[in-house]
Amino acid sequence: MSHADLDMDAYWMPFTANRQFKQSPRLLTRADGMYFTDDHGRQVLDGIAGLWCVNAGHNRPRIVQAIQEQAAELDFAPPFQMGHPKAFELASRLAALAPEGMNKVFFTNSGSESVETALKMALAYHRVRGEGQRTRLIGRERGYHGVNFGGLSVGGMVANRKMFGSLLAGVDHLRHTHDLARNAFSVGQPAHGAELADDLERLVALHDASTIAAVIVEPVAGSSGVLIPPQGYLQRLREICDRHGILLIFDEVITGFGRTGQPFGAQTFGVTPDLMTVAKGLTNGCVPMGAVIAKQQIHDTFMQGPDHLIEFFHGYTYSGHPLACAAGLATLDTYAEDGLLTRASELQGYFAEQLHALRGEPHVIDVRNLGLVGGVELTPRAGQPTKRAFDTFLDCWQQGVLIRTTGDILALSPPLIADREHLDRMIDAIRTALRRVA
Ligand SMILES: Cc1ncc(COP(=O)(O)O)c(C=O)c1O
Repeated sequence: MSHADLDMDAYWMPFTANRQFKQSPRLLTRADGMYFTDDHGRQVLDGIAGLWCVNAGHNRPRIVQAIQEQAAELDFAPPFQMGHPKAFELASRLAALAPEGMNKVFFTNSGSESVETALKMALAYHRVRGEGQRTRLIGRERGYHGVNFGGLSVGGMVANRKMFGSLLAGVDHLRHTHDLARNAFSVGQPAHGAELADDLERLVALHDASTIAAVIVEPVAGSSGVLIPPQGYLQRLREICDRHGILLIFDEVITGFGRTGQPFGAQTFGVTPDLMTVAKGLTNGCVPMGAVIAKQQIHDTFMQGPDHLIEFFHGYTYSGHPLACAAGLATLDTYAEDGLLTRASELQGYFAEQLHALRGEPHVIDVRNLGLVGGVELTPRAGQPTKRAFDTFLDCWQQGVLIRTTGDILALSPPLIADREHLDRMIDAIRTALRRVA
């Protein structure tokens, strides 16, 4: 069934070139396993797990059934001063998956809300323990932490920031770790750049550690173009934070749930943060949900004063929504049954080999990879930044493969159920497109 007669006028689409889209729509109507179906009945191979979220592939029967049954059993339960069993169950399951000592879970509805929650938790934590002057938040250039004001402020993508005024006060940024001159075409973690973590010492020298609450980084920056942390970088950041009593927040919205070969990036890189934000793969993208996973000690710091008083004045109407919890539990079951949380570590060798074979194709100035995340950076077309990557995306779509672009970088993040043939097809589509686009 075609949707040629669909009225598209009213819908203002997010992060979309609305006019281009409405002139030549790309409509998805069904999904199953590794494939979407479009409104012309065409099968489209999903090279990006929807939007880095459908890690177990689409339309998984266990998850679908859990959502359906939950909707009929308990559609909503107020999360303030009330609870329902599945929220507790899901929190326990997440704590068991998370790095040692990270065993308290606060539910949200998105990655952006998880980031706001983690930043507020960090500020309040210091205040509760008597260091309320620690109000400064440190992000990183080229970081992406969602679109709300806290996340925008610590984020470092100029197009996302420049329209929205002065953002939060008291925020500073580490320099980014992207270094084509030294690290282009690195397979896995680049060798150079651990010392870039010392930029935090520079900010400590400038602001004084006693004013800094937290540092937030993505273990692997996804949305700003697949930036893999240099070897030793995250360890060094952890050491500097510890030295100065600064909390380290990992934004694992993309790296969570098996993307890098372990349940969380923290485990892949062997660095445990104090707070971790997750979303996306938590429910396999089926119901909006996010969470902040906190170290026990951070949580316990809040647990003081009369026990009838609220300890943390924060939460959302839909925190721990029953449908999301049901989806989350069924998602974790599906990941466990299919061994998906470590599958990327088995596939990454093959994926890296095939992806790096794009070196030498037209316009390619870098290829990078880790787990089942891949990035291919192109030279921008003169005077038309982002256009070459966008044309490559459109060409792949015509070939029946969905990829993603950010700036002039192509990104792949396939569902973790992908097999070698799927990976081949995604990479072949990119190769074919690159040979065609100007
Ligand atoms: C690292 C990171 N943090 C936060 C977000 C925001 O998540 P959401 O779009 O669910 O608000 C994203 C989304 O891509 C992300 O990649």
